[in-house]
Amino acid sequence: MEGLVSKLSRSLSRAAPILIRSVHSGTRTASTAASKLTAERPLTSEEVYAREDKYGAHNYHPLPVALEKGEGLYMWDVEGNRYYDFLSAYSAVNQGHCHPKIIAALTAQASKLTLTSRAFYNDVLGAYEEFITTMFGYDKVLPMNTGVEGGETACKLARKWAYNVKGVPKNQAKIIFADGNFWGRTMAAISSSTDPSSYEGFGPYMPGFELVPYNDISALEKALQDPNVAAFMVEPIQGEAGVVVPDQGYLTKVRELCTKHNVLWIADEVQTGLARTGKRLAVDHEEVRPDMVILGKALSGGIYPVSAVLCDDEVMLTIKPGEHGSTYGGNPLACRVAIAALEVMEDENLAENAERMGKLFRDELRKLPKDIVTLVRGKGLLNAIVIKETKDYDAWKVCLRLRDNGLLAKPTHGDIIRLAPPLIINEQEVQECADIIRQTIMSF
Ligand SMILES: Cc1ncc(COP(=O)(O)O)c(C=O)c1O
Repeated sequence: MEGLVSKLSRSLSRAAPILIRSVHSGTRTASTAASKLTAERPLTSEEVYAREDKYGAHNYHPLPVALEKGEGLYMWDVEGNRYYDFLSAYSAVNQGHCHPKIIAALTAQASKLTLTSRAFYNDVLGAYEEFITTMFGYDKVLPMNTGVEGGETACKLARKWAYNVKGVPKNQAKIIFADGNFWGRTMAAISSSTDPSSYEGFGPYMPGFELVPYNDISALEKALQDPNVAAFMVEPIQGEAGVVVPDQGYLTKVRELCTKHNVLWIADEVQTGLARTGKRLAVDHEEVRPDMVILGKALSGGIYPVSAVLCDDEVMLTIKPGEHGSTYGGNPLACRVAIAALEVMEDENLAENAERMGKLFRDELRKLPKDIVTLVRGKGLLNAIVIKETKDYDAWKVCLRLRDNGLLAKPTHGDIIRLAPPLIINEQEVQECADIIRQTIMSF
């Protein structure tokens, strides 16, 4: 056997460069003009855009800036220009880019043990499970990788619970979502979406999903009358919808109604969680406890995909061995990174800082001319401004000019710009960034 392996690797090392078969241009080597350039000199921004455009799927529309380095609040492009990051990779980089403590945890674990699969035990998973369940006050955690897998996991748990505990007839369980929800791009996630650019052209869709308007308690109460409802899954603030903050008291009422109708409340805290809105969890603003919490993004500080579902035994233990999982979920590298990311959140009082800096920032944003910036909304450091579109400017043009002035943000839904810096920002930096935003807006 060993002989075969070494023979194989010898012949591979002698092999010619990988051949790519292209329909239109015949057979050619992988070393194209662009990758040759990489070896000879660093690419310019324009070359970076062109290469991605040529070889990558066109499933994103990035702002034209080609980044190569990140540290704390800042990112640098390939020409060495520095920018304030006001997207934080959609709230994954709450702890700041390349946080030294999280990087140290990653590198230490990376040279020891990275992946065992869940076929075996490992010496880090349990430590992480104990740490995160104690921090958030739930019996158990189910580790996954991406946010959308967290959502899928929560939906599966809710269905199992509905059949095994609540007594919903087989295959009749329903999950209610809110209009404007966003929880990722899998078939299940787009099946609950109200955004045509998410779902159009990808049918047929997942059955058993229903919608109610967001922030509408009477619509929810009506939907929950149906005895087959297993769960209501909702974001405490809708992030991708444009930082839509529900009325004060909405989450409290959601809790009351779900309890009254024996329905599980699933809080999708993938974007709002982990200090982003000024509390550890956004539901903490109303001191309510969901039956399930989904975490992702900042659970690794932007360093590695890590997600999790937290809930109590009554729900979690409905899933038995072999019924759910993921090769990478709960791997030792992810667990070490997540522990470090959560420790940084606590040690550096990120929630408290987000709360204080957020107030300061919104006060500054509210001084912007109302004929251009028609609305300012948000909580903690998850904020958005609404730009009034004219023939001369729109949110995209504002973001391009913000970039030229050294601040990176991205429009959502045409007229909204989300403003969400890493949570380590200080007062002076908030002022500097508010100045950049003001000067940019005034330049129109
Ligand atoms: C609230 C919410 N849930 C889930 C997701 C999906 O996370 P991921 O992109 O890691 O799958 C997102 C992503 O933006 C999100 O904002």
